[in-house]
Amino acid sequence: MAFNLLNKDIDTLTCPALVVFSKASSQKDKLAKVTHNELNKQLVDSISEKTITGKHQEAITFREFNISGYRHLIVVGLGKENEITHESVRQSVASALEAIKALNVKEAALHFDGITTAKKDAADFAKAVAEGLVLTSYVFDELKSTTKAKKSEDELNVHVVTKLAADKAVKAAFHEGSVLANVVNFSRRLGDMPGNLMTPTILADSAVAAAKGITNLKVTVWDKARIKKEKMGGLLGVAAGSDQEPRFIIMEYKGAAASKKPVCFVGKGLTFDCGGISIKPGAGMEEMKYDMCGGANVIGTLLAIAQLKLKVNAVGLVASTENLINGSATKPGDVHTARNGKTFEVNNTDAEGRLILADALSYATELAPQVICDAATLTGAMVVALGNTHTGYFTRNSALKTKIEKAAVQSGEWVWNMPLTDFHLKDMKGVYADLSNISSGKGAGSATAAAFLEQFVGEGIPWAHFDIAGTGWAVGNRLPYAPKKGASGAMIRTFVEVAKQYV
Ligand code: BES
Ligand code: ZN
Ligand code: ZN
Repeated sequence: MAFNLLNKDIDTLTCPALVVFSKASSQKDKLAKVTHNELNKQLVDSISEKTITGKHQEAITFREFNISGYRHLIVVGLGKENEITHESVRQSVASALEAIKALNVKEAALHFDGITTAKKDAADFAKAVAEGLVLTSYVFDELKSTTKAKKSEDELNVHVVTKLAADKAVKAAFHEGSVLANVVNFSRRLGDMPGNLMTPTILADSAVAAAKGITNLKVTVWDKARIKKEKMGGLLGVAAGSDQEPRFIIMEYKGAAASKKPVCFVGKGLTFDCGGISIKPGAGMEEMKYDMCGGANVIGTLLAIAQLKLKVNAVGLVASTENLINGSATKPGDVHTARNGKTFEVNNTDAEGRLILADALSYATELAPQVICDAATLTGAMVVALGNTHTGYFTRNSALKTKIEKAAVQSGEWVWNMPLTDFHLKDMKGVYADLSNISSGKGAGSATAAAFLEQFVGEGIPWAHFDIAGTGWAVGNRLPYAPKKGASGAMIRTFVEVAKQYV
């Protein structure tokens, strides 16, 4: 599928399909309006019969409409004028693309100027349209054996037609949206690949391959011997039960003066989590291939920051391993030492994410960054607390909290600030070692996990932990531009917005 911004008058084009928009009235009993003047007149009957209501995401297809240069017509609802946001546009565009696909055409034109004529919104909405199109185009079917007879949707070309296509801000925003969404799709694929085809080695190799040719982006991968030398006892302890070697992935982007401290992103890259000796129940265990989504999304974040050439220095760190059960696996009660010298008892081998993040956060601390944000599918408790709507985040730094809230408004991703206190930490004290990897108290499992992580972040470094256990995959019931069951790419767009605030 291909998309482009086209500087043309929509009425002078010839194309098999045309997408125009409709808006619902804010006043009760008032009719909708199609935001293309001529078509608004022609569709008067459909409007008065309420076939077209302007409702958000409504998509009405008129086959063989045959108006000027177009054969088919699709009218997509934007909702009420005062309720249109970049997120609602992203969702409306998802409906538009589904309707286009159902027509089996090779080309379609989208009447962008029908969304807004206000120049101040145009750039924002152009970004949302690019994101909506690219994100909705994602399919994961590479593991099916049926030879892919070239599907017509593979050849589909969507022109986003606007008189503002030459406007610098609109052009840049459309480009940014398409870079971000392509990166999200890249990370989604890493998540969707099954554990046997997305091992720590393959994950690291994928990061190296993706970064190739991107200016100022360097990837370094540490193997097991190096990880041992670097005293990453948490990562090694989890990897002990697996025949696959662990990897520690370091992505460094230089977009500012060498003296400028980096912004740092850290990800949990558990390519399969069976729980270890504290084994998980069988039902649904296959979903634990997604336990590397934090890592995949940090890789995506660095790819996006570099491709957008942000004027920051950024580092992405991904600790990657499997959590399995061979004869050398870590046993409940075992004690390991993290890179920063702190010791912990492993009282439940299924609470492994925090152990590999301990080393990654210790290493991040050594870089003396301006900020650390980590993403991890860390706790089932987060799914209980927030379901798949909001990503819960933890920070004790109020300035960083403000930055995160702002970033999420810009990205359209929902986040929710969760509590993190000394009481949570108290529950994580060890009996024999400094810390225990599970709480001695009841409840608040996501917060106690965050309190554990905090022990590996240097004093004074602004840090936030994002638990994407609920939002990392299977959000398609809520977001029409995300796959029903697959990986979502959660927090990539928000992390890029956070990074922008350090430019
Ligand atoms: N990867 C899981 C967390 C998870 C569970 C993510 C369900 C998404 C959906 C993590 O490694 C884990 O198993 N955590 C345990 C911790 C517990 C033993 C303290 C959990 O949440 O049950
Ligand atoms: Zn686990
Ligand atoms: Zn896990």
